[in-house]
Amino acid sequence: SEWSRGATVTDMDHFFRRKRAGLVKPLLSLSLIFVSVLMILKLKLSEKDAARIKQARDASWCGSDCFPAVESNFWRINTQHAPSKRTDAQQVSNGTGWDAQVLNCSEDASVKSQPWFRHLDPRFHQFVLHRHCRYFPMLINHPEKCADGEVHLLMVIKSVIEQHDRREAVRKTWGQERTVDGKKIKTLFLLGTPTTGKDTRNLQKLIEYEDKIFKDILQWDFMDTFFNLTLKEVNFLKWFNIYCPGVRFIFKGDDDVFVNTNNLLELTAFKVEERKDADLFIGDTITKAIPIRNRQSKYYIPKELYDKPYPPYVGGGGFVMSSQLARRLFAASEDVELYPIDDVFLGMCLKKLSVAPELHSGFRTFGISRHKASSMNREPCFYKNLIVVHKLSAQELFRMWSTVHSKDLVCAQRTSM
Ligand SMILES: *[C@@H]1O[C@H](CO)[C@@H](O)[C@H](O)[C@H]1NC(C)=O
Ligand SMILES: *[C@@H]1O[C@H](CO)[C@@H](O)[C@H](O)[C@H]1NC(C)=O
Ligand SMILES: *[C@@H]1O[C@H](CO)[C@@H](O)[C@H](O)[C@H]1NC(C)=O
Repeated sequence: SEWSRGATVTDMDHFFRRKRAGLVKPLLSLSLIFVSVLMILKLKLSEKDAARIKQARDASWCGSDCFPAVESNFWRINTQHAPSKRTDAQQVSNGTGWDAQVLNCSEDASVKSQPWFRHLDPRFHQFVLHRHCRYFPMLINHPEKCADGEVHLLMVIKSVIEQHDRREAVRKTWGQERTVDGKKIKTLFLLGTPTTGKDTRNLQKLIEYEDKIFKDILQWDFMDTFFNLTLKEVNFLKWFNIYCPGVRFIFKGDDDVFVNTNNLLELTAFKVEERKDADLFIGDTITKAIPIRNRQSKYYIPKELYDKPYPPYVGGGGFVMSSQLARRLFAASEDVELYPIDDVFLGMCLKKLSVAPELHSGFRTFGISRHKASSMNREPCFYKNLIVVHKLSAQELFRMWSTVHSKDLVCAQRTSM
């Protein structure tokens, strides 16, 4: 591809120079090795599934010919020093740390005997049978994340093990841990375990290795499926309440968005000035929505499961909330039954608190223009003025980030759309 590694290295090198010049090269080469190993794994997996091959290629920096020689080295290193399963888990069961220990979440048999269950679309069986299982053991934890001084902004990003390249792009762009004007920014990725059919053991080794380098992964022992995304919400809220309650703000989003971190900091500073930060929950708010009944849709919800309008909710692609509200949200969430769509679930929790999420036009979690092909979706001057934009590949994110932060970019004015 035209987005060569060379360009990435020099751009990013320049980017990092102030903070950790000596670390950049080793980190980059390690991560490239990592990407290539993941590529090989992906390609192996996709022999069974031709459709997946394309996805794997599209989502990666380079083809399977990247670093063929280094790959075997990686495995040698890895087998010697691979952390055995769960050595990284900081299991503390005495109430001062993570106390969820349920390893075996068995089906709730009483659900099966209810009349509505017989009419329920089978795709939802798994969900309702395991709906009572809320907190899971942690496989990778970072109790120290907020230990050294006040963290102003915690960037919390939903990801899956296979999306290494996206995490890599986020770490080097908007999710970079740093201090801006005395405000400390920290980053965490939320992960579950590989879904059935994946090469679980090797993927697990890779993620443990990645975490050894970057120390920014929280992993829980539940399968990373679409319907389990709500588990990421509730487990994170509980985690935050234990380990990071002193953070000022939390940004929560997907790994395929563009975030203009400076604009986000400006927004929170403005809200603090206005003294409107206590109940702060801002994003791409959707009001008056109703459940989708089209069976083809990813967001299809059968009547048996939910038959009311949705409360106002915020698109899960990216939103910001205050720490006070996150703590109250955690308490409220414990009384709300799990719902298969995570952003709607948070809307239900907000409703319980009688907090209305604020709509802000800087959050474009459905794209700048909802017409995917529109050139507006690729116009850097919009990215300069917005806060969150959905959705970019890792390569697009790098490119857009350097364009937006380039001195050569001339935009007419700070326009709001
Ligand atoms: C809980 O466990 C941690 C780590 O095992 C230990 O440091 C701490 O003292 C324990 N606290 C209590 C109250 O037992
Ligand atoms: C999980 O627990 C149920 C009942 O408690 C038991 O029947 C089942 O065999 C257990 N499964 C595993 C994998 O341990
Ligand atoms: C969610 O994860 C749990 C634990 O891995 C699993 O038992 C359950 O089937 C998953 N639920 C769905 C709907 O995928």
